[in-house]
Amino acid sequence: MKLLFVGDVVGSPGRDMLKEYLPKMKEKFKPHITIVNGENAAGGRGITEKIYREFLGWGAQAVTLGNHAWDNREIFEFIDDAKYLVRPANFPEETPGEGLKFLKLNQYEIAIINLQARTFMPALDCPFRKAEELAAEARKRTPIIFVDFHGEATSEKQAMGWFLDGQVSAVIGTHTHVQTADQRILPGGTAYLSDAGMTGPYDGILGMEKEAVIHRFLTSLPVRFEVPKTGRTVLSAVLIDIDEKTGKSRKIDTILINEDHPFYH
Ligand SMILES: [Fe+2]
Ligand SMILES: [Fe+2]
Repeated sequence: MKLLFVGDVVGSPGRDMLKEYLPKMKEKFKPHITIVNGENAAGGRGITEKIYREFLGWGAQAVTLGNHAWDNREIFEFIDDAKYLVRPANFPEETPGEGLKFLKLNQYEIAIINLQARTFMPALDCPFRKAEELAAEARKRTPIIFVDFHGEATSEKQAMGWFLDGQVSAVIGTHTHVQTADQRILPGGTAYLSDAGMTGPYDGILGMEKEAVIHRFLTSLPVRFEVPKTGRTVLSAVLIDIDEKTGKSRKIDTILINEDHPFYH
């Protein structure tokens, strides 16, 4: 079973990239399930119901989130009814939405878990203990378990990969917006990548206008970051081949589409 995961879609440049290349990637790689991280989809901050539905319409089956999940207040109006939207599981109990969702696709059932890391990030419940609890819950229904671990520090992400090795099909990092080259299958059969990277502006800084970010570094003053509306774009993703009987992964490949890495059909 092939799973395609697209990293943090940032603003309208990211959405345009996804709309253009998702059908092309689906034709080329023929994934059985496609998951997209949408935490930055609405102007770089959060997601709206319209965008969530657009992603599903373009061919995604589920959308994961991260620390920007709540930036657009519209989320509170639709998250409880959004069956295929997964937010970090280790927020406090009363938080709207869910961090583990099951998805039935043809003959496959897949569990999708979203977790947020804590190093250089807001304090949440322990993502490791939450991961262990949810992976055990998911395994009662299916061996195919995908984890989007949204975090800043590679050490914390590697720790999660090794911690869950053999318990889930994949641990894929998001949040840094820079794709890493450490894709591998861990000895227990868990596919691992520290960060899938981002989908959006190619000439900005982590998807935001570079001038504003540089200004902030030069002055240490608060600056509002905006997503550049024009310019070159990038799509970052990862393709994982999972043995649907055991839930163990066989292969993991990163995908990067930009002017320096053109997409060949
Ligand atoms: Fe992000
Ligand atoms: Fe993030």
